[in-house]
Amino acid sequence: MTAFSAVDVITIKRDGGTLSNDAITWVLEAYDRGEVADEQMSALLMAIFFNGLGPQELLTWTDRMIASGERLDLHGLSRPTVDKHSTGGVGDKISLILAPLVASCGAAVPQLSGRGLGHTGGTLDKLESIPGWRAFLTNDEMRDQLESVGAVICAAGAGLAPVDKKLYALRDVTGTVESIPLISSSIMSKKIAEGTHALVLDVKVGRGAFIKTIERARELASTMVALGTQHGVATVAQLTSMDQPLGRAVGNALEVLESVDVLQGRGPNDVRELTIGLAEIMLELVGIDVDPAAKLDDGSAYEVFRQMIKAQDGDPDAELPVAVHKDVVLASRDGVVQTVDALKVGVAAWRLGAGRARKEDSVSAGAGVMCLVREGDRIEVGQPLFELFADDEEHLTRGRDTIGDAVTVGDEPAAQERILLEKITK
Ligand code: URA
Repeated sequence: MTAFSAVDVITIKRDGGTLSNDAITWVLEAYDRGEVADEQMSALLMAIFFNGLGPQELLTWTDRMIASGERLDLHGLSRPTVDKHSTGGVGDKISLILAPLVASCGAAVPQLSGRGLGHTGGTLDKLESIPGWRAFLTNDEMRDQLESVGAVICAAGAGLAPVDKKLYALRDVTGTVESIPLISSSIMSKKIAEGTHALVLDVKVGRGAFIKTIERARELASTMVALGTQHGVATVAQLTSMDQPLGRAVGNALEVLESVDVLQGRGPNDVRELTIGLAEIMLELVGIDVDPAAKLDDGSAYEVFRQMIKAQDGDPDAELPVAVHKDVVLASRDGVVQTVDALKVGVAAWRLGAGRARKEDSVSAGAGVMCLVREGDRIEVGQPLFELFADDEEHLTRGRDTIGDAVTVGDEPAAQERILLEKITK
């Protein structure tokens, strides 16, 4: 292939021009080989941040990220494969319930997941609070478990879209994360490389999400749906509200316990409603006509969850870690809860020890927040709003200092929460 000049590629994008397929292929391959420097790629990412990528540029950019690593082949399984990806929220434990639920309805769910960074938790961190559970599987183990159990949640291997890992780390330190083409290509390159045949995208919008407006969420959703469809993956996006935390539990072991509650037919309504809503879309995509609500209520989904945990050496009957330092935040007035700010609760859980600031940090299994009220609840002065859990006094103080005004109380009735907002199919 012709060698390009990195400076030429940067200036074309800086000036609002269109990059050729060859220029994109060259720049991503040369960056992967270490021949384009981080500072040059940073400049290109910033140019893309401001000037975007056209549909053909985005397709090529995504293709080259996929081609930088391995692509799993999930053909030949006895069940159709369908996965879900969430753009990340506070208290978002849906994968833990959804994967076994959809498997109990007859599909295979390959969930290659990540760890949490900042105020949103990671699915692997949550499952790792179960004694013995192991996140790393070989490709063969994953395939075998998909066939025998129907659901796998495991770590995405380093082989999937490795250029994305380098680019994501660079975007994180150069203020270029919040770009629709860069987010879309990053998420979709990994999901397409994972080999799933169908995909539901849970695009979160609101205070606790990194997309704050419905217009941006629509744009992100339709860009990702188009990329999936162009690659032969049947893709639908569901926009969902992330103004207040999902469910009551925010924190690793706390969220596993709440997930088990929902898997046993109980648990908070919003978690159940969102899980069932996403399951219905997933099942429709792969042509399975089974009612997921019935599978939650009759224990089938919980049974698959237990098998999924055992297959990865976890003990589904083990006691989960509990943080010993506890505090309760009380209401300072009577009234109606107007907001429970998901971002503030997420940051508090992180400060309590449930999340990490850097990739290398470890997380506390037991730390977190239990949210005891929801928007619209009528409360009285002195009523408990949050329970905080931490492994030591220092973390407890940090969490308490952060959660301060996460709840606002007024006299007006608050608007009714809607969790499922819009479905985007193209
Ligand atoms: N998640 C990803 O994997 N990539 C992004 O760019 C943003 C969120």
